[in-house]
Amino acid sequence: MNEGQLMRDRIREAEEVLRAGMSGRRPQVAIILGSGLNPLAEELEDAISIRYGEVPHMKQSTALGHVGRFVCGTLGAVEVLCMQGRLHAYEGYTSQELAFPIRLIASLGIGTLIVTNAVGAINEGYEVGDFCIMRDHINFTGRNPVAAPEAAALAERFFSMTDAYDPELRTLAHTVARAQDIRVQEGVYLGLLGPSFETPAEIRMFRAWGADTVAMSAVEEVIAARHRGMRVLGISLVTNMAAGVQGASPNGAEVLETARMKEADFSRLIRGIVAAI
Ligand code: HPA
Repeated sequence: MNEGQLMRDRIREAEEVLRAGMSGRRPQVAIILGSGLNPLAEELEDAISIRYGEVPHMKQSTALGHVGRFVCGTLGAVEVLCMQGRLHAYEGYTSQELAFPIRLIASLGIGTLIVTNAVGAINEGYEVGDFCIMRDHINFTGRNPVAAPEAAALAERFFSMTDAYDPELRTLAHTVARAQDIRVQEGVYLGLLGPSFETPAEIRMFRAWGADTVAMSAVEEVIAARHRGMRVLGISLVTNMAAGVQGASPNGAEVLETARMKEADFSRLIRGIVAAI
């Protein structure tokens, strides 16, 4: 069996389990909940959850604050599928493993993906507690989930990453945030492997490259989603200033603490965006 067929079979096996678990529901929007942002899934109504461990070929979330299950339910009046907890490269997962749930979500016919994460701010005009809509990204992980024969077999190998973060969805997110009086920025996100935080010298270099925020997730997911033609919106929460910015030396506890403080605003914002999509 060729690699492409093997990948398609794996996705189909996972899809069967997820579809059975969702018992006839047809979510149109998928949301990946980042560090400290997992509690949103608890707000879904008529929720059904399926642990990653129950889904064939799916890896586990081991990161702090990441639950590790799919939760399907309604947010407002909209049917959504949340990944309550994501997989990270720093947990030792390959790019193919990180992309697997995204490919699974695409195969379920879900056309829109909202990725969320906690980020450090490189841009000195940003403040801790700001939300930031991703305008574009810099993939500094050194990896790409489509750089594998089985992945290239799923869809066209060469595809555009211009406007990878859907311009209409970005406008919509700004409109919702303004109406809710929630402070949002829009900037370029730089994703890297982690798990060490960056050095101040790296942050200075990233600023010169045009990056506004930095974290250890999302870029590989977004590439996998664009490969399958999904519309993507990226929303970050600035949990800390990046290393060396205003003397900062970030740590994991600070990230989770800020996320906890902004939990209510985050769910209001995502709820509003989902309702307006
Ligand atoms: N660097 C990398 N990842 C992060 C940060 C940061 O400053 N904050 C939250 N995730």
